[in-house]
Order: sequence, then structure tokens, then C-alpha cells
Amino acid sequence: MLEVKGLEFSYGEFTISGVTFSVGKGEVAVLLGPNGSGKTTILKAIYGLLKPRARCVYVDGADFHSLPFRRRSQLAGYVPQSHHPPFPYRVIDVVVTGFAPRLGLFQSPGRGHYEKALEKLRLLGIERLAERPYTHLSGGQLQLVLIARALVQEPQVLLLDEPTAHLDFKNQLRVLSTVRRLAKASGVAVLMTLHDPNLAAAYSDKIIVVKDGRVVAVGAPRDVIKDDIIREVYGVSVKVLEVDGRVVVLPHD
Ligand SMILES: Nc1ncnc2c1ncn2[C@@H]1O[C@H](COP(=O)(O)OP(=O)(O)OP(=O)(O)O)[C@@H](O)[C@H]1O
Ligand SMILES: [Mg+2]
Repeated sequence: MLEVKGLEFSYGEFTISGVTFSVGKGEVAVLLGPNGSGKTTILKAIYGLLKPRARCVYVDGADFHSLPFRRRSQLAGYVPQSHHPPFPYRVIDVVVTGFAPRLGLFQSPGRGHYEKALEKLRLLGIERLAERPYTHLSGGQLQLVLIARALVQEPQVLLLDEPTAHLDFKNQLRVLSTVRRLAKASGVAVLMTLHDPNLAAAYSDKIIVVKDGRVVAVGAPRDVIKDDIIREVYGVSVKVLEVDGRVVVLPHD
């Protein structure tokens, strides 16, 4: 389980402050908020790519940032907001690079590493892509390959920054339902950023609403996807309905 307790970080004028929430085993949580509200900064600070002001991240009770780099990369996987594949490596080779923090400096990955990588592709339903060049994938396939790469170390926590950016509607649903299925099947705690409140409501157990580097609301989708909260955070008028037990946001002028 992931616990964030009072995260503080500053980029000059922009400040993240008092960010507190938890994501349980098998839970899918979404950071929702406008452009520039601090979602990517929060994910990077949790993973340790940015240094928070004080210790504030715990994985299964352990102070995450005081752990050695190898242990951290075993416990948590991170998929950044944008990634452009530089070379036409085979998909399976890209997934195997997820083991890099575990291998010694001159150690090559072995058969066991390849078998485990293939198992992750299978889990995500993209085993057939294993031999394809990584540069020839669609946006949705690429996202799933990067998630497979983050999963090879069997992390307890998976951090995904906009896993549905640039995907068509079908691929957005595919990536999100795969992530949700994975969380439920393997018990990994997932924290991701999304822009669409409807997708956040449909695929998450918990939504953390962020504005100007602060948490405005945390809770189950039906408790935070409310017209007053959406108006406060995005400055737009919406109507929130409930359809088949789910909340749905409609624009409302
Ligand atoms: N490397 C950096 N140096 C200085 N300021 C930065 C840096 N990266 C981001 N910022 C600033 O921090 C704030 C939060 O940015 P962040 O990328 O966390 O937002 P976000 O919520 O992920 O936005 P988006 O939805 O557009 O991805 C913004 O004001 C941004 O300009
Ligand atoms: Mg971002």
C-alpha cells in the first residue's frame, strides 16, 4: 500500500503543499486536476525523481525514499507522461530493460528475464507484439508495452502519468480496463493521472482532486465528482448525473 503524508515540493513560485492520501492494495486511484495543477510533479516526487522537502512517502509502511535505489525500483514502477521510442528495438527487449536496476553493471538479461517479460505481455493481452519493432506500435500498444516494462519487477505500486494521452476512445478504455483488471488480479496499488472526469469515475476506486498544488478533495468517485467541486477546480458549469450506479459529468452552459 502507498501512503503519502503531507508532501511538500517547490519549483520556484509553484508549490505543492500538504498532499496527503493513500492507495490500498488492488486499488486504482486517479489524480484529477487542470493543466499545471501539479499532477506530474506529485507523481515524480512520490517516485523520487524530485526531492520532496521531507520524508513523506511510505510503501507497506517503509519510508520509501530512504530505501536503496534498487529496492525502490522493485517496489514501484513509473511510466512517464510522454515517451518517444528512439530505436526500433523489439518489444520484448524493451520490456526486459525493466530489469535493468536489478542487473549488475556487466550482466546481461537471461532466459528467466525474457520469460518473465513475456508473462507480463501475456497478462496485458499483447503477447503477439513481442517480436515487433517498438517504433511500429500504435499509441495504445505503446502504453501497454511501457506498463509491461514497469511491471517486470512485480512492483507493489504502479505510477502512470496520463496513460491515455493521445489514445482513441477504444484504446483509452482498453488501457484503463487492463490497468484495473491488473490491480484487482495482482493487488498492485495504482496511482495515475487522467484528464477526463468520466473516465476517472468509471475506472477508479478513489479520486484525488488537485488544484494549484493542493488537494481539494479525496474520495470515492461519487463523493468527489460533484458539480460544485468541478466548478471550483475547472471553473466550468457541469451537470452530474447517475447512470447505472455510476456518476457521469455533462457540460452544462
Ligand atoms: N522542470 C520544471 N521547472 C520549473 N517549473 C516546472 C517544471 N515542471 C513543471 N513546472 C511547473 O509546475 C507546475 C505543475 O506542473 P505539472 O507538470 O506538475 O502539472 P500537471 O498537473 O501535470 O499538468 P498537465 O495536466 O498539463 O500535465 C506548472 O506550473 C509548471 O509550469
Ligand atoms: Mg502532467
